[in-house]
Amino acid sequence: MATEQWDVIVIGAGAAGIFCAIEAARRGRSVLLLDHGSKVGRKILVSGGGRCNFTNSGARAENYHSSNPHFCRSALSRYPPARFIEWVRSHGIAYHEKKLGQLFCDGSARELLDALLSDLEQSGAVLRTEVEVQEITGQRPFRIFTARGSLDCDRLVLATGGLSLPKLGATGLAYRIARQYGLPVVPTRPALVPLTLGGALKSFSESLAGVSCDVSLTANGSRFRENLLFTHRGLSGPAVLQISSCWQDGDPLEINWLPDLNPGEWLEQKIREDRRRTLESLLAEVLPRRLAQALCASFLGNPVPASLSDPQKRELLAALTAMVWKPAASEGYRTAEVTRGGVDTHALESKTMASREIPGLYFIGECVDVTGWLGGYNFQWAWASGWAAGQAV
Ligand code: FDA
Repeated sequence: MATEQWDVIVIGAGAAGIFCAIEAARRGRSVLLLDHGSKVGRKILVSGGGRCNFTNSGARAENYHSSNPHFCRSALSRYPPARFIEWVRSHGIAYHEKKLGQLFCDGSARELLDALLSDLEQSGAVLRTEVEVQEITGQRPFRIFTARGSLDCDRLVLATGGLSLPKLGATGLAYRIARQYGLPVVPTRPALVPLTLGGALKSFSESLAGVSCDVSLTANGSRFRENLLFTHRGLSGPAVLQISSCWQDGDPLEINWLPDLNPGEWLEQKIREDRRRTLESLLAEVLPRRLAQALCASFLGNPVPASLSDPQKRELLAALTAMVWKPAASEGYRTAEVTRGGVDTHALESKTMASREIPGLYFIGECVDVTGWLGGYNFQWAWASGWAAGQAV
């Protein structure tokens, strides 16, 4: 079987790979987009509860974790959220802001994927699914061996995503190829993932499964103020998913149960209003009643705050605003929305996503060590990095 020749081969037909292939083909390149799955864009379809939180209107470099924090600035400024929003509008896809700049489709994420696939077809790029990549060798041309024959290309783009949700086709191919060509890979770990608890904390959480409240969580010097949800296994909800990206095994998690109050002033005010009230009754005004009861029963006792000495009040306020819990683990890649770490950006050109050392080799999307916060930032990175490489290949 003769080896096929292509200008550009993109491996991985997710958000980043599809966007890159469209841009490259529009520039007149012959482009082949490969995926090992029978369906493409599967994470787009499951994202945002089926409505795809496709970008965040305020996305900027500060919303991303990376060992090279400035790297994502170039791609995000060349292809900012406003340009993707314009793309969404131009395809007649209705959308709305849910909160904090998070933009969702009004209807189904399928509309967005269909629009991408329609652009892909019009661009002239060729999509092939169910192609298993066995081996990649050489450099300009790169030779890709598959069960269906070998393919040569001048430029090779890896867009195979991270390790999260293996059931949707995640593999570590991009990391393997990066290492094969001598590029460093920042160690990976699950991110935007629920945390599990052990022992008494697990029982505490189990007894409150389904209860949620606004908190601020701190780990490793990072803080997020959002909603926390108790589950049968531990903690979830946006605050926990956000902080999980900063948390590592063994780290303590600091919980502020009163993130919107000046707790000292609040307590003194409540004491002035009624000196007889118990802590539980005061907390039940600002927290779900079951949580107030459980916190008092397990951690705080149920004192009458008016009867506490100043040092005891300080101790109580510290427990309410900086309670330290040690999660047992994260739920892992099985439920993680993204993978932190990945191809080290110090080895890539920020304008083009090209390897600095291996001409013609590119890495885009989630396989790169750029991990967004929860709220549309990860898709914005996929579009922006895919677009940047699409202009260069
Ligand atoms: P992506 O993982 O999307 O695509 C990679 C592609 O490569 C897949 O099609 C895969 O089959 C293919 N592939 C993998 N290995 C291969 C191999 N060896 N050979 C050939 N092909 C291979 N983000 C956000 O901004 N807003 C949101 O609402 C959500 N919601 C959300 C929900 C859930 C449940 C998850 C799991 C994730 C999210 N995300 C999100 C994150 C977002 O989905 C993610 O960051 C992007 O899909 C990453 O896009 P990529 O194109 O880089 O990888």
